[in-house]
Amino acid sequence: MYKVDVLLGLQWGDEGKGKIVDVMTPGYDVIARFQGGPNAGHSLEFNDIKHVLHTIPSGIFHEDKINLIGNGVVIDPVVFMNEIKSLEKLDIRPEKTIYVSKKAHLILPSHKILDAASEAAKGDTKIGSTLKGIGPTYMDKTGRNGLRVGDILLPDFIEKYTFLKKKHLDILRQYDYREDPEKYEEEWFRGIEKLRSYKLIDSEHFINNLIRENRKILAEGAQGTLLDIDFGSYPYVTSSNTICAGACTGLGIAPTRIGEVFGIFKAYCTRVGGGPFPTELHDGTGEKMRVQGKEFGSTTGRPRRCGWLDLPALKYSVMINGVTQLIITKADVLTGFETLKICTGYKVSGKVIDCLPFDTAQPLEPVYKEIKGWQKDISIIEDCSELPDEFNSYIEYIEKEVGVPITMISLGPDRKSTVFPSK
Ligand code: GDP
Ligand code: IMO
Ligand code: MG
Repeated sequence: MYKVDVLLGLQWGDEGKGKIVDVMTPGYDVIARFQGGPNAGHSLEFNDIKHVLHTIPSGIFHEDKINLIGNGVVIDPVVFMNEIKSLEKLDIRPEKTIYVSKKAHLILPSHKILDAASEAAKGDTKIGSTLKGIGPTYMDKTGRNGLRVGDILLPDFIEKYTFLKKKHLDILRQYDYREDPEKYEEEWFRGIEKLRSYKLIDSEHFINNLIRENRKILAEGAQGTLLDIDFGSYPYVTSSNTICAGACTGLGIAPTRIGEVFGIFKAYCTRVGGGPFPTELHDGTGEKMRVQGKEFGSTTGRPRRCGWLDLPALKYSVMINGVTQLIITKADVLTGFETLKICTGYKVSGKVIDCLPFDTAQPLEPVYKEIKGWQKDISIIEDCSELPDEFNSYIEYIEKEVGVPITMISLGPDRKSTVFPSK
């Protein structure tokens, strides 16, 4: 029996998951999203066109692959409908290959308003949420008030919707935040109709049957490990389990069915939104990373904060997820830097520690190892044998420190800009 492979981000999201899933899809029959929602923005590039997906799995551009949206995902029907429309413009027939779990929760217009109200109330400590309604929707899920995709097939759907909206309006009054969800309802219900025309399924049975049939399945993570609700830099996190365990609960597969765990990380770090970021650069070097890496959010367009690679954080993510293979992305962005830095620990009150402390609000001073940079343009390389020595030293150092092999190197946003070191 084949096992389910999992691919996930090891930093604060935007590691290049969309691109890598697209590259790996030919080797799989099924691509399955297991958590998150339209806060995700997964970019793919091929034939000089860039696509950004928010809810739909990144296998959608390959014919005859099953794309499953699992129970752990939260769905905004409007975002879903708009994504479908843009795929249809490209002559893709998503209704043939997309399957949606009946147990996935729905993001209501009032969830988005609650997200905005909650952020506004936080003042200086705001999380920097994408304001897509993610937090309030997961709160209703765990509070046992949520509406699920399967509810749209039941006769009392409108009553359930109205009941939940009323509850939200009561909370909004407490926030003293006034915005009327009704102005978004017409479009939202159109989205519901679109969703209704899709294959709404008991996805836990569906995926376990596929496993029994020896179909190859890749679970596609959203966000990143350092945004995980339990293990991220709480409270500056998202509201789901972004880690490998999230693939089990978000799809209904047993831990014993997990195979390879592909951990993706950028050659440096970025973060969008608030929260601790020990290696963040506020100088020209950080700006150079932002410009060369085109570091602007795929979902919100916000500039991403940039900084050097953080090894203690990377090791932590590898441990939490049981990563078996590492994938490095955006290495091309570091071309032309005289010296590269890698954080190996943090200095706190004069003492060097090698993992993030519980209280990340206290000042942490990164301790760096310096490595000579490379000048050769690696974005046009087609084979690992052409990589410069300095680049090889950079990745060998990371492999040695983390103890997991790097099995894929991404050197540009296009599908084709990917090389595979032979071990
Ligand atoms: P995701 O959320 O993990 O799928 O990542 P995003 O799509 O939000 O952000 C990654 C960005 O980097 C996108 O604009 C990608 O097109 C781009 N990208 C992915 N891999 C590479 C790479 O190896 N080099 C460069 N220069 N860009 C990349
Ligand atoms: P992908 O899948 C980067 C961040 C937000 C904010 C925090 C909480 O593209 O890697 P939320 O909207 O979940 O309430 O926001 O998490 N965030 C992301 N950052 N990439 C993402 O997804 C993100 N999804 C959420 O910026 O700081
Ligand atoms: Mg993204």
